Amino acid sequence: RYSSEELDERIAEAKRALNNQVVILGHHYQREDVIRFADYRGDSLQLSRIAAGLTDVQYIVFCGVHFMAETADILTGDRQTVILPDHNAGCSMADMADAQDVEEAWELLTDQYGDTLLPVTYVNSSASVKAFVGRHGGLTCTSSNADRVFEYALSIKPRILFLPDQHLGRNTAVKLGIPLEATAVYDPGEMELSFPHGGQDPKVILWKGHCSVHQRFEPGHVRAVREKYPGIKVIVHPECPYETVQLADASGSTDFIIRTIRQAPPGTQWAVGTEHNLVHRLAKEHPEQMIISLNEMVCPCLTMNRIDRPHLADSLESLVHGQPTGVIHVPEDTARWARLAIDRMLDVS
Ligand code: 13P
Ligand code: SF4
Repeated sequence: RYSSEELDERIAEAKRALNNQVVILGHHYQREDVIRFADYRGDSLQLSRIAAGLTDVQYIVFCGVHFMAETADILTGDRQTVILPDHNAGCSMADMADAQDVEEAWELLTDQYGDTLLPVTYVNSSASVKAFVGRHGGLTCTSSNADRVFEYALSIKPRILFLPDQHLGRNTAVKLGIPLEATAVYDPGEMELSFPHGGQDPKVILWKGHCSVHQRFEPGHVRAVREKYPGIKVIVHPECPYETVQLADASGSTDFIIRTIRQAPPGTQWAVGTEHNLVHRLAKEHPEQMIISLNEMVCPCLTMNRIDRPHLADSLESLVHGQPTGVIHVPEDTARWARLAIDRMLDVS
């Protein structure tokens, strides 16, 4: 076991030894003691763009979750080696869309709706699901560009099958003026389509997946925080349920949340519905405002938190010794289709 100082020193020393051959990317949800070492911070769209633009380093160490590191590997191909310091850092939402289940759903839905469907997947999905989407003419989106991607998709086909987050899909559809009755939910367990809001002719078919963190910010939390702090502004991530987003003052990606709070006047009070690491960091960086979690009892993203300093130090040292551990490699026959889906998104946004 190493002391906190020793861990910091191991990481700093390994970075020095690698002499500009490594770039560390950190997602905004990453723990404070790890993100301090990131060369770039960002939301998932920003980090994808940064990874795509890196040409002159050998290694990318991704302090985020599995699908983010896969995306970086897909976009950089053989140019760089991508490392995820702990392969147990998955995403429970991405795990809710299994590629085989998606194939089965597609068969069933195209039987019913013919050639009227375009698949769109949130980047929070496996490389195989992205490849499926790419093969079928579709594209990926992030929470920063979901509205633009939906508009584009609906200019090509009359219907979207959106994977895997029903909440982001529903919130985006409503933002674009699509009525709830024109949304349906596909349950991969039951292999069944349902219409929770009535209607029969869906424009957006939502995969029944969710984020185990964001789904837990409920409308009752918005009402309670407003009662306790009259005048407080509520800002949430669009992975939160529709009813919560409707009650909030604003919703958007992690980058949107950060920008909105940075631009607010001193004295503004915020209740933020997203991962705690980001909320606590914002509170520390903006003592001139009051920033609290919309619900402090919601658990953090446990998988994101698996990336800790011991794992970061071990993976950097493995690079120094020329024996990389934690390598993420997406096979080329999957990567080329997934790349197509991601490139289409980057073009649209
Ligand atoms: P962003 O697209 O806002 O980075 O969010 C990614 C994510 O996993 C949110 O839970
Ligand atoms: Fe996945 Fe939710 Fe964690 Fe984001 S916060 S990485 S969607 S489990």
